Amino acid sequence: MTDIRTVGVIGAGQMGAGIAQVAAQAGYDVILSDIDLPRAEKGKAGIAKLLARAVEKEKMTQADADAALGRIEAVGDIAPLARAQLVIEAATEREDIKRTIFGNVGPLLAKDAILASNTSSIPITRLAQAAPDAARFVGVHFFNPVPVMGLIEVIRGLGTSPETVATIEAFAQRLGKVVVHAFDAPGFIVNRVLMPMLNEAIFALGEGVAGVVDIDTGIRLGLNHPMGPLTLADFVGLDTCLEICKVLLTSTGDPKYRPAPLLVKYVEAGWYGRKTGKGFYDYSGPEPVPTR
Ligand code: CAA
Repeated sequence: MTDIRTVGVIGAGQMGAGIAQVAAQAGYDVILSDIDLPRAEKGKAGIAKLLARAVEKEKMTQADADAALGRIEAVGDIAPLARAQLVIEAATEREDIKRTIFGNVGPLLAKDAILASNTSSIPITRLAQAAPDAARFVGVHFFNPVPVMGLIEVIRGLGTSPETVATIEAFAQRLGKVVVHAFDAPGFIVNRVLMPMLNEAIFALGEGVAGVVDIDTGIRLGLNHPMGPLTLADFVGLDTCLEICKVLLTSTGDPKYRPAPLLVKYVEAGWYGRKTGKGFYDYSGPEPVPTR
């Protein structure tokens, strides 16, 4: 098993920053990288805010929060990732972007370092082709918000070695997360089930079955979900939802995964949900307001 002391995270957006935070809280040194330093520092500043809130709520001591933040180094290039024994890519959910990253980072890594992708749907076996060694390549899928959600999906590609899986299991355990194992298949476990549900809610909205609030309230109270599907889609990011639907559709050829036209339209309009301030709700005011 690889002895992990330093974890590299590529991408300082909501997933990457969340992964960096939980790894630092578990005592790992973390290198948080993005395409430029301001983006990486913005990710670190977001973590600082969440840690400060945890201190305010007396869930964490100031000393522990300071120590966790002190273990995170924000960097604007990939060279420092050479020091990591585990590098987790959490960049945009697009295969071309991820492949380019693996092509650039792979040659820098130590011989026994593990390269992992937080992809939510792209086949691990295929992504591994852009990595230096398929045996040390694995899917490590976290859930949003990472500090709150207790699950990691571990996805084995065809070439992923049992040692790599064992190393990731030990890492997940130190993070306090439960692992579910999936063999490489489109959408793995969670998104295979989740995305058709979110997409169906968007079809229902587009067909005029009900408005945003009734659809969300129906599922929230009728099925006891913490968030309605349209709120959850905005939370995940409509661009990400669309990319996942496309992966499910193209990799299975099954038309049941075709993205709802309204989802495509919102993404074309730049309405990506919370991160752009508008999706199925408008987030510009004090409370979210439904856009339909
Ligand atoms: N980071 C850290 N902590 C957060 C947080 C964040 N972004 N958002 C909320 N929290 C914490 C709050 O601080 C609060 O903590 P305490 O209980 O210790 O005070 C706790 O979570 C509950 O938060 P709130 O009271 O503000 O609100 P809530 O009860 O509505 O919970 C939620 C918020 C945890 C997000 C909850 O609504 C929820 O579980 N929603 C569903 C989330 C979900 O399904 N995620 C999976 C998305 S799919 C995915 O990630 C995979 C993919 O590939 C697309």
